[in-house]
Amino acid sequence: MKISIVGTGYVGLCTGVGLAVKGHNVTCVDIDKEKVEKINTGKSPIYEPGLGENLARVLKEGRFRATGDIKGAITNSDVTFISVGTPSREDGSIDLKYIKQASRNIGNVLREKQGWHVVVVKSTVIPGTTEGVVKKNLEEASGKKAGKDFGLCMNPEFLREGKALEGFLNPDRVVIGELDKKSGDPVAGLYEGFRAPVMRTGIKTAEMIKYASNALLATKISFINEIGNICKKLGIDTYDVAKGMGMDKRISPQFLQSGLGWGGSCFLKDVAAIVAKGKELGCMAGLLESVIKVNEEQPGVLLKLAEGKAGSVQGKTIAVLGLAFKPDSDDIRESRSIPLIKALRKKGANIVVYDPKAMENMKVFFPDIEYAGSAKEAVGKAEIVLIATGWEEFKDPELYGNKIVIDGRNIFKDGKKLDNYEGLCW
Ligand code: UDX
Repeated sequence: MKISIVGTGYVGLCTGVGLAVKGHNVTCVDIDKEKVEKINTGKSPIYEPGLGENLARVLKEGRFRATGDIKGAITNSDVTFISVGTPSREDGSIDLKYIKQASRNIGNVLREKQGWHVVVVKSTVIPGTTEGVVKKNLEEASGKKAGKDFGLCMNPEFLREGKALEGFLNPDRVVIGELDKKSGDPVAGLYEGFRAPVMRTGIKTAEMIKYASNALLATKISFINEIGNICKKLGIDTYDVAKGMGMDKRISPQFLQSGLGWGGSCFLKDVAAIVAKGKELGCMAGLLESVIKVNEEQPGVLLKLAEGKAGSVQGKTIAVLGLAFKPDSDDIRESRSIPLIKALRKKGANIVVYDPKAMENMKVFFPDIEYAGSAKEAVGKAEIVLIATGWEEFKDPELYGNKIVIDGRNIFKDGKKLDNYEGLCW
């Protein structure tokens, strides 16, 4: 099938390359000329395992290209995905300016285009957005009617950074929210080669499945962190507790790794958006508000442990190992290392940091802290080492000598022992 994708961020690019790997013909559209050129030379603008190789392969095989020409891309395709960003506003609600713009641009092209075309929202949008904002903008710009002249679907993406392409190609499930069967059939056809159950449902339901899934995952982590803080005081290893809990199929062992908390571009944005929507509708989302609160407090808990071990951090050199919000990523959005560094700065500590991938990104946030050339160098300069991201290379006990290490990610759970070690929730 011929597919166009508007917006080549994480979701757009991984969806595009993934569908091309599956044999479809994909054109990705972006307004950023440099990005388009980079993609067309086979270089991925983001670091994601497997993405670069597969991008180069599908380009070479002629099933994938990027362009700035939205008209050509849509005219020469049967299905268009919208995968533009949905940033947060100050109050947590989502900003739909890119969604509106993309819908209008697509509508303008559909005005001239003959034949059945399906528009699919892939961006995470609050329930009601596709059938409200997207449909309205498409209809106004095209002068056509959704369901009669063109199809409309919402197909949420559940991919995880660091496993984005693998996750796209091997999903647990595919959810297709469809305006009607004629809209949903071509989208279901796209996923025929996937070994995953396909759930076809209403558009609003699909939108909510995405929010509710992310909200529950964030809840599981905040839950185990709250339990973990209590376990720590009681001298119990939370990971043993999580193991015992996870044997219950209803609970599952996943997303019960306690530590410094969750970061990334999705969890906070999505939980805050659903809280804001709930409030707008007169529903208090107290549980989800607490999920955010627990997460915000976790870096402070780590810092307290450090102070418990070493006294005040003022004037001391503290190494923060790991800046990315999780390993195998250069993404620092909502990384727990950010509030940790802020708190350390406030307390007057000298900070030296190291991350194998995310240092350039963090320099924009904190230009005035010290960036070490290696983990060894950072540890060597520090009196206390705080582990904020569980990168593989930090798991070498030799790295630490007898330095005080406070581990926020339980990277030594395999039994390796350090001389002067303290775990956050274990
Ligand atoms: C998440 C969802 O998993 C994905 O389905 C959605 O599409 C986008 O948001 P992602 O942000 O890439 O994906 O990261 P994920 O692997 O889910 O981890 C999020 C954060 O939670 C990371 O900071 C990670 O370190 C933390 N985490 C995860 C924990 O602290 N404990 C866990 O048990 C799992």
